[in-house]
Amino acid sequence: MPAKPTTLSLPKLSYLPHDPKKYRPKIGLVGCGGITSYHLQAYKAAEYDVVALCDINREAAEARRDEFYPDAKVFTDHRELLKLEEIEVVDITTHPEVRNPIVEDALLAGKHVLSQKPFVLDLDDGQRLADLADQQGVLLAVNQNGRWAPHFSYVREAVRAGLLGDLVGAHCGVHWDHSWVRGSEFEKVYHLILYDFAIHWFDFITTIFPDQTPERVYASVARSANQDIMPPLVAQATIEYPHAQASLVFDANVPQGGWEHVLVSGSRGVIRSEGIDSDSQRVELLTDEGSFSPKLEGTWFPDGFHGTMGELLCAIEEKRQPTHSARNNLRSLELCFAAVASSLRHEPIKPGSVRKLPESAHA
Ligand SMILES: NC(=O)c1ccc[n+]([C@@H]2O[C@H](COP(=O)([O-])OP(=O)(O)OC[C@H]3O[C@@H](n4cnc5c(N)ncnc54)[C@H](O)[C@@H]3O)[C@@H](O)[C@H]2O)c1
Repeated sequence: MPAKPTTLSLPKLSYLPHDPKKYRPKIGLVGCGGITSYHLQAYKAAEYDVVALCDINREAAEARRDEFYPDAKVFTDHRELLKLEEIEVVDITTHPEVRNPIVEDALLAGKHVLSQKPFVLDLDDGQRLADLADQQGVLLAVNQNGRWAPHFSYVREAVRAGLLGDLVGAHCGVHWDHSWVRGSEFEKVYHLILYDFAIHWFDFITTIFPDQTPERVYASVARSANQDIMPPLVAQATIEYPHAQASLVFDANVPQGGWEHVLVSGSRGVIRSEGIDSDSQRVELLTDEGSFSPKLEGTWFPDGFHGTMGELLCAIEEKRQPTHSARNNLRSLELCFAAVASSLRHEPIKPGSVRKLPESAHA
């Protein structure tokens, strides 16, 4: 039945990044590659205190220092940065192939850690690092910044507030051009879409169904007819829950007219979000009692990076686990690895049964 054309009065949903009340620790950044421009834009705007930068390529670290934190120290060996006692939080942004030993060193040095995504290539390594953080009495979180993309965050908070009732389904689609990776390291990643890119969407689905254990994932990939780079640019995944379903569609070779959408449905209503890209999303909640369309503030890049660091700092201050903890992130990776394996084996896979990212996924 179509929703009545009334405007709902809703509880205020807390979807924006949040800051700790008082805690402003000194932060070290390890890895100063392409993505860290967004980390540092967000931290500077939030007035977070970055005091040291490290990259095996000194020029990369110096360039970030000169642009964002001119007083920061520069290192080429992360172990030197970790010796600085004043640093309490370390943001580790290197690629996953070289990240585990750096995360381990930081935890052993007693630092709280924010790890870039994808968190690990082996779920057992991730479990081990989460255990190590517990033993060290520090927090380990994952920079799954899509959680603070305004539309994902609003939809999740609407679900959490119970506005949709019992969930029936969650469905997302992205139709865009990802061939910009031509000539970069990302072009060598076979499952660029289903793994490196879609992890944010598997993570979104995990946050929408926090209390249901997914039973099976079925996924497929294909090379589209006119693509000229190696990774298959067409991918899809469906996820079975005991009482609901989810689906993800990625058409990554659409050079004209991009479109991105989310639809979550439940026993009391639906919430949908759509627009030409992540930053142009119009969200609308429709229930039997009326409809509501919030005007969202912010953008995924860079505000999502404020969200992940802010939540880690709040969790440290409030002495609790962060919502984007390593353990929580492993649930998203279970879905992602199962999807990658399913697309290779052409059969449904139980999440958690595939412990390592399948080899061909990372050429
Ligand atoms: N939405 C997002 O959060 C998002 C977007 C893009 C990339 N990423 C992720 O961020 C990570 C890095 O991506 P990128 O685009 O910045 O890569 P990049 O290749 O541009 O940068 C990686 C940097 O790490 C440095 N490095 C390598 N080993 C090091 C070590 N031992 N110590 C210190 N520095 C070291 C390299 O010199 C390089 O400067 C990847 O995991 C990627 O998937 C996340």
